[in-house]
Amino acid sequence: METSIVDVVIGMQYGDEGKGKIANQMAASGEYDYVVRFNGGGNAGHTIYLNGEKIVTHLVPCGILHGIYSVIGNGCVINTQKLFDELAYLEGLGFNTSLLKIAENAHIITQEHIDEDSKDTTIGTTRTGNGPCYKDKVGRTGLRAKDIPELEPYLVDMYSLIHSSPKKFLAEGAQGYWLDIDFGDYPYVTSSNTGVGAVLNNGFNYKQVRNVIGVIKCYSTYVGAKGYQKGDERFEKLREIGQEYGATTGRPRQIDWLDLDEVNEACKMNGVDFLIVNKMDVLRQVDSAWNLYQDQMVISCSDENTFMDRIANYLDPSIDIEFQGQLH
Ligand code: IMP
Ligand code: MG
Repeated sequence: METSIVDVVIGMQYGDEGKGKIANQMAASGEYDYVVRFNGGGNAGHTIYLNGEKIVTHLVPCGILHGIYSVIGNGCVINTQKLFDELAYLEGLGFNTSLLKIAENAHIITQEHIDEDSKDTTIGTTRTGNGPCYKDKVGRTGLRAKDIPELEPYLVDMYSLIHSSPKKFLAEGAQGYWLDIDFGDYPYVTSSNTGVGAVLNNGFNYKQVRNVIGVIKCYSTYVGAKGYQKGDERFEKLREIGQEYGATTGRPRQIDWLDLDEVNEACKMNGVDFLIVNKMDVLRQVDSAWNLYQDQMVISCSDENTFMDRIANYLDPSIDIEFQGQLH
């Protein structure tokens, strides 16, 4: 029987891998009927360049930028005011926001959630109310999209949406696998699952997952309270050239070399078919920066090709790797 399929874009590091760019390229292909966000909320910041214009979204899936139906899935948490502000911003840019759908059972971020999150000093959260909202969801005291009259026109039921007729979905992840509530460096994590399992918890069955596209940068970044960056002046250069500042909070991202073991584990845990390696052009602009971690040791590669070969040889050979930001 014909069924819906879903291709999934997931970050394999700590967020900010360039998922937004990749999801945007894929949405632009015309292959998909729907783009769906399956986790997170306004804590995410997706930066996209469309016809030379920089567009930053937090909650609305990138399908809206391509005239495709876009769904905020039930795994997401929604700040209603911020959502309406973002819709107004996108309408102002000429996009048709009536294509937006919201899962009726997605949870709502309240002022109390934001107030509670604003007191955080240990995790270094985005202070958007994300964690406290998920806490109420799991505690069964939360408010859902179907409880909010203003969201009525957008509401959908994920079962009907996915299973009533065959459609092609692109699932756009938020954050990255190493910020996952279960598998990340707890407590320095976000409050949702960020991997492929989260897609299933938005109503897709496992047979519908077609391709999993993992996204990384050719170096690592992390934003949050734990100490992550080591003293190496090349990291400061990387931050400036790569413009590594949080899209949501403006905080400087901490930087380190690419960690191949981390990427390898994330690929295995998510069944990655394709891996995109972003920002090669940034690493190229810093002297002697073709470095990566393997078995917790820094390996210095002599040049770009050696660096690319080492990645390809280390990961499962069935993974199709594409490097972006190359000279040719
Ligand atoms: P929260 O998701 O706001 O609770 O923040 C928890 C941790 O996840 C903090 O270290 C944040 O900086 C990080 N985080 C949350 N969303 C993103 C994101 O979209 N990109 C990068 N880091 C994020
Ligand atoms: Mg981001």
